[in-house]
Amino acid sequence: MRRKLIAGNWKMNGDQDLVRRVAEHAADSGGGAEMAVCPPFPLLAAAASQLPFGVALGAQDVSEYEAGAYTGEVSAGMLLEAGCRYVIVGHSERRTLYGEDNGRVAGKFVAARGAGLTPILCVGETLAERDAERTEVVVGEQLDAIMDAVDGPAFQGAVIAYEPVWAIGTGRTATPDQAQAVHAFIRQRVAERDGSEVADQLRLLYGGSMKAENAAELLAQPDIDGGLIGGASLDPESFLSIYNAAAEG
Ligand code: 13P
Repeated sequence: MRRKLIAGNWKMNGDQDLVRRVAEHAADSGGGAEMAVCPPFPLLAAAASQLPFGVALGAQDVSEYEAGAYTGEVSAGMLLEAGCRYVIVGHSERRTLYGEDNGRVAGKFVAARGAGLTPILCVGETLAERDAERTEVVVGEQLDAIMDAVDGPAFQGAVIAYEPVWAIGTGRTATPDQAQAVHAFIRQRVAERDGSEVADQLRLLYGGSMKAENAAELLAQPDIDGGLIGGASLDPESFLSIYNAAAEG
């Protein structure tokens, strides 16, 4: 049985007040599912000290390098020391706005794992790619780049988030059937290379305009094991409602 994970990706939003309010609401998270919060780097320390026990902390990006002359970058070891358990790698905004290709994303994934963080790998297709029926090709390549870079089962203990680019921040959500189909494909692809035991335990999150109103039906799908929430994670009440849908489902 995979424990559901509801993770909030604040992106470049939030302040000390949001940390305080989310920490207050998170105190009501019952434990039936796991909650994680991924604020911007400068808020990690405040979140680490205020989030209730059992709520995990994550970062939104990590360097592929361990240390050195990389101005502006943050290493996996630093994130671990700051109290992070998770780090998002390969978010579509990093891929499209900052030119991160599959190779760089794989480097970040390897660095995160090497330091003992759990990477949340984001994959997903653009609308043009979906319309051209290339979703499985694109997502398959995104997964293969990671599995090519890692000796042994790459996704053991990792998390993958399927985030169709056309559903991010658009209010347009993948239907439960659309999301389930891609999630099943991802699990199958991982099973082919990492083995069925790793694939069966792998948590697959859906991300893309998930909110309190649509969370329950998405989370009811057999291969949807949680959510990576953008906009709705900035509203503590909405975020807690999504968490409750996962905890009760
Ligand atoms: P929205 O929930 O705002 O669509 O963002 C999803 C996302 O990108 C989470 O990483």
